[in-house]
Amino acid sequence: MIELPLIPRPVTVDATGGSWSRPNAFRLVIQGADASTKSLPLEYFSHLMPSCTTVAVGSDASAHTHDISLQLTLRSNQPDDEGYTLEIHQQRAEITSSSYAGFLWGLQTLAQLLSHGTEIPNLVCVDRPRFRWRGMHLDVARHFFPVEFVLKFIELLSRYKLNRFHWHLTDDQGWRLPIDSHPLLTEIGAWRLESDGSRYGGCYSRDEVAGVVSHARSLGIEVIPEIDLPGHASALLAACPDLSCDCRKIDVPNSWGVFENTLCPSRESTYQFADAVFSEVADLFDSRYVHIGGDECPSGNWAKHTGCRDRMHQLEIKSASGLQGHFNQRIARILRELDRTPVGWDEILESGAPSDSVIMCWRDLRYAEQAVAAGHETILSPMSHCYFDFYQARDGEPKAIGGHLPLSRVYGFDPLGSELLEANARLILGGQANVWTEYMGNPEHVEYMTIPRVCALSEALWSDKESHDFGSFLKRLPANIQSLTRAGYNHRSLDKGSSGS
Ligand code: ACM
Repeated sequence: MIELPLIPRPVTVDATGGSWSRPNAFRLVIQGADASTKSLPLEYFSHLMPSCTTVAVGSDASAHTHDISLQLTLRSNQPDDEGYTLEIHQQRAEITSSSYAGFLWGLQTLAQLLSHGTEIPNLVCVDRPRFRWRGMHLDVARHFFPVEFVLKFIELLSRYKLNRFHWHLTDDQGWRLPIDSHPLLTEIGAWRLESDGSRYGGCYSRDEVAGVVSHARSLGIEVIPEIDLPGHASALLAACPDLSCDCRKIDVPNSWGVFENTLCPSRESTYQFADAVFSEVADLFDSRYVHIGGDECPSGNWAKHTGCRDRMHQLEIKSASGLQGHFNQRIARILRELDRTPVGWDEILESGAPSDSVIMCWRDLRYAEQAVAAGHETILSPMSHCYFDFYQARDGEPKAIGGHLPLSRVYGFDPLGSELLEANARLILGGQANVWTEYMGNPEHVEYMTIPRVCALSEALWSDKESHDFGSFLKRLPANIQSLTRAGYNHRSLDKGSSGS
């Protein structure tokens, strides 16, 4: 096993003898596996490697001495198998895999090798991920980020072999997803009046959303949209007040926190609305999963509302908060008809989660244990290791929401971090970090909070646990940061310290 500045660390990398100098200006010429090469984002890869002039596909490209040739070989067709083998000998490389994603990840490894040094050893790298859900979330509701940044963020995830982008598109402070049947959601819900009187907001167009989904797909990433219901719904209710219990007109809030504004679970119009919204979501997104939120939903308005009390009586529900279970079952039914699987924050467990729902645990491991005990597939995203809105050091940092999440702690994240979870490993899909943006007003700040922690997350979720070694990771990190800087990403300086816990 040789040590190269690769993140995430591959399962094995063996030197096969000799090395060669990367040409100063080279073309990468790719051949084979036609169906796969058609989707490869060639321009993206040509920009990824500093001395690469072109990435071309096809055997008709006449060979130059400065070419690096890459053969893609499909070993069988298993789309879920993300593993790959990368062999490099002189200026020839071969990636063998059973899936498009495997080719992609092999190419990312090759790109790192060609970017992080000029003397390239001949080698064989055999690699596969530890977890199948390696996610990153981005909140575009608290602050809105233009589509160009969303695409750049997705490109960052792909470099580090993360394969799920959880796009948090709606929250109290903004609704960012265009819904043709309910244009007020963005006409009203995407905008708020700030305390200085300025108007803040924005939303994506359908074409932009489609562009994100297809670019992500080509980079090996599934985009999971989140429509956060029935709480975190102020922006929605500012646009559609008739869907709350008291039908009161409200403004889109310009402050953070948990609000009492909730969808009314007793009205049929709520479910007609949800049906219309999720039908359009299913048109726009090709993901197996759709995130339905479910977090931090106060039930105070439901307890006061005659319609909700009648519905509780009819359904023999004892407490108003139990209505959320009824709500979730109805939403899950809508998604089932659309052939989608719901994902919800761990609060949905408290009122009887739909049997086919995936639970995303953010509070603590106890909820993950509860989820697997109830037979749910589960994703770990605990605040203790995965909240990238937390401070990166105890002092000297820009204002953040709270908490303390240094790099070393992210590196130590283990989605199988208890005996019970380990025993139920088949139900643990993987892990995810979340970027809530209350205190991140611009893309540079999102990057500052994400890099280098995303590198630690990547290794925690991809690499075998036995290979985890924070000291080695820190040695491999600077070359990665240099590449990211060259590509125009901001980051927290590695010299700033306080990486320890
Ligand atoms: C959450 O952080 N409210 C999921």
